[in-house]
Order: sequence, then structure tokens, then C-alpha cells
Amino acid sequence: MKFSLSASLLALAASAVQAQAPQNQTGPFFLHITGKDNKTIDGYGGACHAGAALEGLCFDNGPAPSGDHVNYGSFFFNYTGNQNMDSAEVGFLSWNLQLAPGSDPAFVPSAMTFTYSSTSNVAQPLFGASSNAGGQSVGFDKDGKMFVYGYQDDSTFEPNVPPKPSQPKAYYNWFVCWQSFTAYYYPSVAWATTLPPQNPTCQAVDITQVMV
Ligand SMILES: *[C@@H]1O[C@H](CO)[C@@H](O)[C@H](O)[C@H]1NC(C)=O
Ligand SMILES: *[C@@H]1O[C@H](CO)[C@@H](O)[C@H](O)[C@H]1NC(C)=O
Ligand SMILES: *[C@@H]1O[C@H](CO)[C@@H](O)[C@H](O)[C@H]1NC(C)=O
Repeated sequence: MKFSLSASLLALAASAVQAQAPQNQTGPFFLHITGKDNKTIDGYGGACHAGAALEGLCFDNGPAPSGDHVNYGSFFFNYTGNQNMDSAEVGFLSWNLQLAPGSDPAFVPSAMTFTYSSTSNVAQPLFGASSNAGGQSVGFDKDGKMFVYGYQDDSTFEPNVPPKPSQPKAYYNWFVCWQSFTAYYYPSVAWATTLPPQNPTCQAVDITQVMV
């Protein structure tokens, strides 16, 4: 899965790099993806082209692709130390978009955010070069499993009883689904905002951090 960038997009991507609060970073690491129920799902997450300077988080069954440390073994975790969950740091996933893969080491750090659809409960994780201000809040628990950090659960709301300001919780609604990225259609990592996901191709997975 390759990507190409036009010169104007390179300029756009480069201009998106700007000063920001100091962040600590761990990585690079692989994202090992295993089926919660379906044990034949055992593979890795890789960045795949989903649009101009935009990558999805695709799923490839099988062992980690050897030698491909650009798309597969190059995920990072950025955090500030200001937020944690059960002693795990809360931060965001970052992936380095190579401006000219193979010929130039220059890259643009790209944060993972979720893109929601108004007609689905399945959100797409996307790495965008313009999202370097931050990304979707995630963390890795003591078993290395990636969780999404949530602090309000509206399924418990009651009339006239304002919710407590913060009820932090780790959520694990990860799936691998066939998802459409404009002109592309890939088996890729998805986030279900509620269970079950309405996309019938979705299979529940765990995503585990494996340091390179
Ligand atoms: C398990 O996953 C494999 C690989 O995606 C798929 O071919 C198979 O149909 C799945 N089995 C079930 C029972 O969903
Ligand atoms: C960030 O990294 C610096 C330098 O290694 C270290 O001193 C600091 O404690 C780290 N902060 C957190 C929150 O881990
Ligand atoms: C993640 O942190 C590193 C190290 O501080 C920084 O260079 C990079 O820009 C950050 N990534 C994003 C997407 O902000």
C-alpha cells in the first residue's frame, strides 16, 4: 500500500508542522492485532493510503512484514504526563508520514484521530498530517493493550441528575472491518462508538503494542 504526494501537498504538509507543547514519545512499535473470538485473526496494523496526506490503519493478517518499518513498525505514542488511567499514560498515536519514501528522510508526524459518520456507529482511525496538535486520547494498559480514554458514559444518564464531572474509563471497542476510504476499500481497524457495530463485516480485536 503506497502513497504519493504532489508538491503542493508536500508544502501543505510541511506548513502544518508548528511549535507545540513538549511531548514525551515512546516507540517505534508494531500494533499486533488479534481476534477476540476469531483466532484466525492474527496480524499487524499498517498505515495505508486513504487520501491526500491521510492514512488509514489497515489490517494485514500474518507475521509482521519484515523490513517494512515505514508503514508497520513505526507507530509512536505521544503523551504529556498530565493524564493517566490506572497508572497508564494517556496520549495519542503518532505515525511519521515520509515525504519521499526511500529517498528522503524528511517526515511529518501525523496524529491518529477518529472520523465519525452520521449514519454509522463505526468510526475510522485516520492519521492526518494536519492533526499534529493532538489526536484521539488512547493509552496502553499493563498488558500492552490499547484502550480509548473516555470520561463520560451517557448510557447511564438520568433526567435532572447532572453527571459527575469525570468518570474516566478505559474502553476497548476495537474491530477489524471492511471500510470505505473514498476511493479505497480495505480491511482496517475501526472503533465502535456503541456495541455492536452495525457494519456486518466487523470482527472484534485486541490491539497490542509490540516494541520494535
Ligand atoms: C475469521 O476471520 C477470518 C479472517 O478474517 C475469516 O476468513 C473468517 O470468515 C472468520 N470466521 C468467522 C467465524 O467469522
Ligand atoms: C519525559 O521525558 C523526560 C526526559 O527523559 C523525563 O525527565 C520526564 O520525566 C518524562 N515525563 C514523563 C511524564 O514521563
Ligand atoms: C510526538 O512527539 C514528538 C516528540 O516530542 C514530536 O516530535 C512529534 O511532533 C509529536 N507528534 C505529533 C503528531 O504531534
